[in-house]
Amino acid sequence: MHKTPEEIYRTRRQFFNDHAEAWLDMWYRNPDTGEYDRHRENFKRLFSLVPLEPGDRVLDAGCGSGVLVPMILERIGATGLLYEVDFAEKMIEVNRKLHDADNVRFIVSDVARAPLDSASCDVVLCFACFPHLQDKEKTLKSLAGLLKKGGTLAVVHFESSDGINRHHESCSAVAHDYLPGREEMLSLFESAALKVDLFIDEPGFYCVRATK
Ligand SMILES: C[S@@+](CC[C@H](N)C(=O)[O-])C[C@H]1O[C@@H](n2cnc3c(N)ncnc32)[C@H](O)[C@@H]1O
Repeated sequence: MHKTPEEIYRTRRQFFNDHAEAWLDMWYRNPDTGEYDRHRENFKRLFSLVPLEPGDRVLDAGCGSGVLVPMILERIGATGLLYEVDFAEKMIEVNRKLHDADNVRFIVSDVARAPLDSASCDVVLCFACFPHLQDKEKTLKSLAGLLKKGGTLAVVHFESSDGINRHHESCSAVAHDYLPGREEMLSLFESAALKVDLFIDEPGFYCVRATK
């Protein structure tokens, strides 16, 4: 049955709310160790490509239940500030329970309308979220507006665009959500006045990194 864009948006948000409690176990728990270290090498790679500095202000866009929080806080230290933004309130609820710290702000919002000051972030990380943004051009422009001049925005996945798109096709709530390949992504970033300096789309890893 044909769904309106509003229905698609609501269904997607419901899907993420429904999976919030189990999200970290589903995707990050290593059954052999019981630790949340299933993608340890990929996380190392992510933070080597997108280094964070003590004192940085970081926006974790589409943060979910906060898998990145400990890794970001370790790098930005007590003088940094982390914004955890997600439109699924249950994700933020779980995230806050697990990671409440003085320098983390938890915000329930569509990332395109995040109530943050313009040019206030050193880094915007869009980890495993970009395919789900309904209006990718508009959202990328909003995120770019939150970046300081010289700041970094990165879209990262631990799968290629082909792999992500195949994975989403099999789940009706996110069947419309796709990760663009090189040409479309470069054009979206150009529209947002972001200068891409790295593009990787290979089996098991995807990263677009750009500077404002
Ligand atoms: C695949 S999950 C990834 C969550 C987290 N980054 C992780 O890797 O565990 C995508 C997340 O993006 C959020 N999301 C999707 N579209 C969003 C939007 N327009 N604004 C804010 N959050 C959004 C979902 O609620 C969900 O928590």
